[in-house]
Amino acid sequence: MLKIAILFSGGGSNAKALSQTYEEITGKKPLLITNNVHSPLAEDALLIPKKNNEQDIMHLLREHQIEKVLLAGYMRILSKSFLDAFADFSKGTKNVVNIHPSYLPELKGAKAYERAWDSDRQETGITLHYVSAEVDSGEIITQKKIPIDRSLSMNEWIEKSKKIEHKIYCAYLRELLEGAKDA
Ligand code: GAR
Repeated sequence: MLKIAILFSGGGSNAKALSQTYEEITGKKPLLITNNVHSPLAEDALLIPKKNNEQDIMHLLREHQIEKVLLAGYMRILSKSFLDAFADFSKGTKNVVNIHPSYLPELKGAKAYERAWDSDRQETGITLHYVSAEVDSGEIITQKKIPIDRSLSMNEWIEKSKKIEHKIYCAYLRELLEGAKDA
C-alpha cells in the first residue's frame, strides 16, 4: 500500500477529501501534517512548529516511510534541498504533487481565485502538477478550465470551484492507489 502524507495550511477541504478517499481504498488513515493550529482539520493532523519547519517535516516523512506527498493548500514554499532530499529518500522526482487554483502558467502564486475574480476573465482553471523548486512551475499532470460564475458571490464561486478540485485530486489519488499511475 502506497504511503502518503497530506500537507495543508488552511481550511483543509482538499486534505479532508483526499483523506476520505485514501481511507476508503486502503482502510488506513494517511499522515496529515499542518502548520496551522487554527485549521478546522488540525486536530486530525500532526502539527509542525514554524521553526525548523522543513527539517521537522522531513523527519516525519522518513519516520512514517512516506512515498508520496500531496500538498493541499500548503502555503509555504518547499526548498530545493528539501525536494532533493525527499526525491532521494522516495527514489523519484515526481513524488510531491500540488493542486493550484488556476490554469497554470497563468496566475501563479497566492490568492489565484481572488485575482481571477477581480480580473475581467470569463474563465480560469485548476491545475494538478508535480512540485519543482520553482514555484507553481513543475510538470503538469492534468488541468481543467472552469467558468467564473459571477451570478454567485465570490465566496460561493470559490466553494463551488473547490469541489471540482476535490474531484480532480481524489480521482488522481484513486488512480495512484489502484496502480494506474506509476509516476
Ligand atoms: C485551494 O483552493 C488550493 O487549490 C489552494 O488553496 C486552497 C486550499 O483550500 N492552493 C494554493 O493556492 C497553492 N498555491 P482547502 O484548505 O480548503 O483545501
